[in-house]
Amino acid sequence: MAVGIRTRDLRKVYTSPPPLAVRGAALSGGFGKKPKGAKAPNVVALDGLSLEVAGGEIFGLLGPNGAGKSTTVGILTTRVRPSSGEAYIGEFDVWRQQVQAKRLIGVVQQRPNLDFSLTAREILLFHGAYFGMASQERHKRANELLERFQLTPRADDLTRGFSGGMMQRLSLARAMMHDPQVLFLDEPSTGLDPQTRLLLWTIIREYNARGKTILITTHNMEEADALCNRLAIVDHGKVIALGTPAELKASIPGGYLLQLRFSSAPPELMESLRRISGITEVRPNGEGIDVYADRGGSLISAIVAAAAESSVELRDVHISEPSLENLFLHHTGRSLRQ
Ligand SMILES: Nc1ncnc2c1ncn2[C@@H]1O[C@H](COP(=O)(O)OP(=O)(O)O)[C@@H](O)[C@H]1O
Ligand SMILES: [Mg+2]
Repeated sequence: MAVGIRTRDLRKVYTSPPPLAVRGAALSGGFGKKPKGAKAPNVVALDGLSLEVAGGEIFGLLGPNGAGKSTTVGILTTRVRPSSGEAYIGEFDVWRQQVQAKRLIGVVQQRPNLDFSLTAREILLFHGAYFGMASQERHKRANELLERFQLTPRADDLTRGFSGGMMQRLSLARAMMHDPQVLFLDEPSTGLDPQTRLLLWTIIREYNARGKTILITTHNMEEADALCNRLAIVDHGKVIALGTPAELKASIPGGYLLQLRFSSAPPELMESLRRISGITEVRPNGEGIDVYADRGGSLISAIVAAAAESSVELRDVHISEPSLENLFLHHTGRSLRQ
């Protein structure tokens, strides 16, 4: 039976700064500006995060850096202790029944954590042994995975010399070694070349087709769109939107976003833009104006006419089709990549 994942009201407050390795995301979180000698401020990484992932789903956590994605994965994989709330893998309480929960999961952490003093094959075999696989079974499974991940030619080389893409492939192979029911993949394809990314996507889909549950975090909406059955959009430690990629995209009032720049933006221009049929929302954005609409390019002539009426000039237009990126922008006022 496929195994689901559930969290209820998870909160995590970090009371000390993150280790240097995770500082990249932390700088925007406030730790970077701490004056010398001052007490480190508490950082609320999760602020009541509730999720329900059905067994057999590919579920995505989509959100910008610092949203709390890795903290969520950390809690669900027993590496981070929650401040409060509940986390379950299947029927097992992750914190109280760690051993049972751990047997059901495989993890690819955001940062590669391979032992450089071992070969690729040894890494898989040791992992299999740790999970109690018999010798013959271990060797067979390692061979299959090395082959599937196109690592066979390098199987007996130390991982020290591996490229980022090879390490990422090996990390995923290791996570799959004991054939876990639930896989956690924390930004598995960040920094990968397109070919490797496509290979990982194919293997993730194959794994899922065998009834396995997959939770994947990403800040890449193309990946979320391509891979996930359902998504939770996460920001500041909370779920701000939930649904299938198609549902989420359809939920933006006017899925098209037109980012406009005029020589100036007088209030009467905003008003006349609002009156154009097909435009559902007009919002000032810095020096420009964001327009949400049911269509894209075919609105430009009406927009130019409205500008002329207010004696201003349209200087620049950027049109994006309905996407998760626009969805995020709509909910938070910020771009996913910021
Ligand atoms: N080990 C840690 N110690 C202290 N603060 C942390 C730690 N890990 C993450 N944080 C902080 O918690 C917040 C959420 O981080 P994280 O869960 O890594 O988000 P994401 O994976 O979405 O980028 C950030 O503000 C980050 O700086
Ligand atoms: Mg992260």
